[in-house]
Amino acid sequence: MTNAKIIGTGSYLPEKVITNSDLEKLVDTTNEWIVERTGIEERHVAAENQLTSDLALEASLEAIKSSGINKNNIDAIIVATTTPDRTFPSTATILQNKLGISDSCFAFDIQAVCGGFVYALTVANSFIKSGQIKTALIIGAETNSRIVDWKDRNTCVLFGDGAGAIVLQATEEDNGIIRCELHSDGQYGHLLNTTGGVSLNQQAGYIYMEGKEIFKLATNKMAESAIKNLEKCGLTAADVSLLIPHQANKRIIDATARKLNLTDDKVIITIQKQANTSAATIPLALDYATKNNRIKKNDIILLEALGGGLVWGSIIIKW
Ligand code: ACO
Repeated sequence: MTNAKIIGTGSYLPEKVITNSDLEKLVDTTNEWIVERTGIEERHVAAENQLTSDLALEASLEAIKSSGINKNNIDAIIVATTTPDRTFPSTATILQNKLGISDSCFAFDIQAVCGGFVYALTVANSFIKSGQIKTALIIGAETNSRIVDWKDRNTCVLFGDGAGAIVLQATEEDNGIIRCELHSDGQYGHLLNTTGGVSLNQQAGYIYMEGKEIFKLATNKMAESAIKNLEKCGLTAADVSLLIPHQANKRIIDATARKLNLTDDKVIITIQKQANTSAATIPLALDYATKNNRIKKNDIILLEALGGGLVWGSIIIKW
């Protein structure tokens, strides 16, 4: 049976760093409040001339290099982003051009906010399992700083910019993605959204969030999805070697890990230095885990995410 296996990872964080102390000068907040309530210490912010596709390009080049593949063997490029370069064309086709990959490959974006990478990986897995493609480049890339209201202390302390990428390839081995599970529920759209949109008011708008409500939904929905997904694979949380969760708030990560009875050494946390990079948090954390030798062959890896929509889901991988 054909499986889809991650054979390379890469990441990119813009040079410019904004610390909590920097934010103390912009809004009525303190380093102590931000660290205690979110776990965030600093975040990276793209330079004025850096677009989401530029961040995606750097992460992609690293992922392609680490996989050892020839870029011309990539059949599909999928970019998960909520902060595209333009309304159209897709950031994925802009990236395809920057990578110098011709029409031997197709490219498109997926918009599922902080759940975007889990959605993109699920779609690529289906393409590979159905035999339609052999190799996919999947990227989560965001310039959240462009839709953050830097006068709103409720949201500006939470987000950062960055990109993570993976190369997913068909294999006949018994390793790779075991099961993906996606959910969405549009009735919660009012809790987390932007104040603008192309059709609504021809503006990108700013991030709006009812944090307390989202916090409760995030801890419950991600844990529910993970437990159900594991059950459907005949696994339990005790089989999980490493949890790589969406990084929105350290307290959310800790709470979901507790629901799964996972100890701290089984959870990857990158939020301190990166904040919430939306669709990029999971591939950035995955790249961090591989570079720090936190994953061994045959490990069971659990990915989980929740984002605006609401959308949420989880993926189980045998490495
Ligand atoms: N500095 C100081 N005080 C602040 C700040 C700040 N940066 N932000 C809010 N406060 C204040 C509030 O105004 C409030 O004051 P009040 O009691 O006088 O009204 C007080 O702190 C407590 O606010 P809460 O909202 O209750 O704080 P909470 O502990 O819930 O933390 C947070 C807020 C960090 C936003 C949390 O709710 C959270 O992380 N929510 C979920 C985030 C998330 O998962 N997002 C999903 C993905 S994002 C995406 O899809 C785009």
